[in-house]
Amino acid sequence: MVAQGEYTEGAPLTRRERMLRACRGGPVDRPPVWLMRQAGRYLPEYRAVRARASFLELCDDPDLAAEVSLQPYRRFGVDAVIVFSDILIPLAALGLHLEFTPGPVIHDPIRAPGDLGRLEGDLTEALAPTCDAIRRIRREVGADVPIIGFAGAPWTLAAYSTEERLSRDILAVRVLAHRDPAFLDALLERLADVTAEALRLQAEAGADVLQIFDTWAGLLSPPAFQRLAGKALARVLEALPSNRPPVILFARGATHLLEDLAALGPDVVSVDWRIDLAEAAARVGSNVSLQGNLDPVALHADPDTVRRLVWRIVEAGRKARGHIVNLGHGVYPTTPVEGVAAFVEAVQNGEGASG
Ligand code: CP3
Repeated sequence: MVAQGEYTEGAPLTRRERMLRACRGGPVDRPPVWLMRQAGRYLPEYRAVRARASFLELCDDPDLAAEVSLQPYRRFGVDAVIVFSDILIPLAALGLHLEFTPGPVIHDPIRAPGDLGRLEGDLTEALAPTCDAIRRIRREVGADVPIIGFAGAPWTLAAYSTEERLSRDILAVRVLAHRDPAFLDALLERLADVTAEALRLQAEAGADVLQIFDTWAGLLSPPAFQRLAGKALARVLEALPSNRPPVILFARGATHLLEDLAALGPDVVSVDWRIDLAEAAARVGSNVSLQGNLDPVALHADPDTVRRLVWRIVEAGRKARGHIVNLGHGVYPTTPVEGVAAFVEAVQNGEGASG
């Protein structure tokens, strides 16, 4: 097992240097910290913006998208700003009829090989608001704060695009794997190109780190993962330029796939709370860093409890090549702001600093 490099230099690291080093396993003074869904309904200032605009209007307006992306940075001083958008925006851009009510609804899902033509097209124009938002965020925060761009993984996008409302067990796409594997392969290939294109455009606009969300990969057995989600993810990673920013790969409930995820060659694997970080580190070895992994519901605890839980995670994360402190999934809308503040502060001030 490899211990995280000791940091001995004098000058403090910028947030950007700290994040890039953590992704690649270089020495850091402390791990960086941000939260999945850090901009969202638990924040009063987000709800104030949402009172004036729908979620899709927010994603489509570079000023508003940049503004809500920056809200958690301004309030908590998190170590990275993730651009505000959604993994389903590229599907809407290609022409699928998407609504949020507040969960996503796709009124005209992909059902047959003849529908694949509806996923053709260029994303440059459709992703322009997100890319503009990245440039606006950069103007606000300067070069020293890392910006995270993101996209949905092909398997997760396939799950959403084949059902009007996602069923609990994402049945449509899993049935397709047995009824018409050739059609599903073609769909996953097309969506892999969509994922790669969305990531490439955000990197060109200035994203320092890219995160791929494979929220639904955890439902697959290891062989099915390799044949479906994993194969499509490999295609995404191959399509990115060799000088790409670091890639974080998130899969929920995927402890049984940890080695498979690491073998795909991302810089970081983001794990949820079902595994201890020290054990995850022992399993993935020194070729990949880890991100995670507090259960987001724990942010409802009192701030002292949150701090103690965070310190435990920071300690366990020292066993990894590099560690980015995060949750195991997104912040719930019911989360008290004090819980998020304690989460960030516990990492940035270290154990004992706040009593
Ligand atoms: O992390 C961030 O702060 C950046 C923004 C972001 C959102 N969605 C904003 C959002 C990111 C990175 C996502 C990713 C996303 N979207 C995923 C992968 C991560 C995960 O949660 O597993 C998935 C599966 C989606 C699809 C999606 N979008 C769902 C299922 C929902 C409804 C759930 C809900 O919270 O109501 C959304 C809507 C959504 N995406 C909201 C936000 C802030 C809520 C919209 C609102 O304001 O009404």
